[in-house]
Amino acid sequence: MTMPPPSSSPLLRAERLGMTFDANGSGFPVRALAEVSLDVARGAFVVLVGPSGCGKSTLLRLLAGLESPTEGRALLDGAPIAAPQRRISLIFQQANLMPWRCVRANVLLPLELAGVPAAERQARAAEMIALVGLTGFEEAYPAELSGGMAQRVAIARGLAARPEVLLMDEPFAALDALTRERLSLDILQVWAATRQTILMVTHNISEAVLLADEVLVMSPRPGRIVRRVPIPLPRPRTLDLLYSPALGELAGQVRAAIEQEF
Ligand SMILES: Nc1ncnc2c1ncn2[C@@H]1O[C@H](COP(=O)(O)OP(=O)(O)O)[C@@H](O)[C@H]1O
Ligand SMILES: [Mg+2]
Repeated sequence: MTMPPPSSSPLLRAERLGMTFDANGSGFPVRALAEVSLDVARGAFVVLVGPSGCGKSTLLRLLAGLESPTEGRALLDGAPIAAPQRRISLIFQQANLMPWRCVRANVLLPLELAGVPAAERQARAAEMIALVGLTGFEEAYPAELSGGMAQRVAIARGLAARPEVLLMDEPFAALDALTRERLSLDILQVWAATRQTILMVTHNISEAVLLADEVLVMSPRPGRIVRRVPIPLPRPRTLDLLYSPALGELAGQVRAAIEQEF
C-alpha cells in the first residue's frame, strides 16, 4: 500500500526575488532585495527579522502584489502574484484608518469593496471587532482611540475579507511595550481561531520567537535570507514564555545570526 504524498507545496512562495529601484533612471539604482527565496506553508506563522533598510517592507509589498519584482517571482498556491488580491491582506505599521468613519465603518470598508451582501457584512464586521476585543467601540471614531485600539481596528479590517494570507509589516511598532505584548498574544489567538497563514515583520527578536513557527533572518541591503531558525516551543504560548530560558536561548540564536551579518 502506498501513502498519498504529503501536501508539501507551500501556500506562499518567493523564488529568487530581487528588487532594484532605479527611480526614473536617475543613475543611482538601489538594490533592495537579492535572491530572496522563502516558503510559507499553509497555516504557518513565519516571522522575518533584519536590520532597518534591508528590504523587509519591499518584500512584503512584492508578496502582496503591490509592486512587481525586477527578478524572480512571488507565488500564491503556485500562481504568480501579479496584482493585489483578496486572498492576501497587508497590515501596515500605521493603522491608516479613515478618520471620518467609525470603527465599524472602517472594518466594513473592505467588505463593501468586495461586494459582500449587507447583512453578511454587518455580521462579519461584528465578528472581527469581537475577535480583536473592541466590542462596545463600534461607534467610536479613530480620533477617540488609543494607538493600540487603532491598530486592533486595522487588524480587524485586514481580517474582515477573510484573506488566506496575512502579511504584517511591523504592526506593533508604534505601540508601547505593554500594549505590544498584549496585542501580540491577541494575534496568536486570532491566528488560532482563523487558521490563517501569517508572515510578519518585526524588529523585536523576543517577539519574533514568541510568535513564530520559524524566524527568517535577513542580511543588510541587499536583503537576503541568511538563516532560518525553527522555533519548537509548544503552543499555546503565553507571556511567561517571554522571560523563559528556552525562549532566551532561541532569541540568542536569532541575535547571533543578525550580528554575524554586520
Ligand atoms: N519606492 C522606492 N524607491 C526607491 N527606493 C526604495 C523604494 N522603496 C524602498 N526603497 C529602498 O529600498 C531599501 C529597502 O527599503 P525597505 O524595504 O523599506 O526596508 P525595511 O523595511 O527593511 O526597513 C532602502 O534602501 C530604501 O531606501
Ligand atoms: Mg520597513
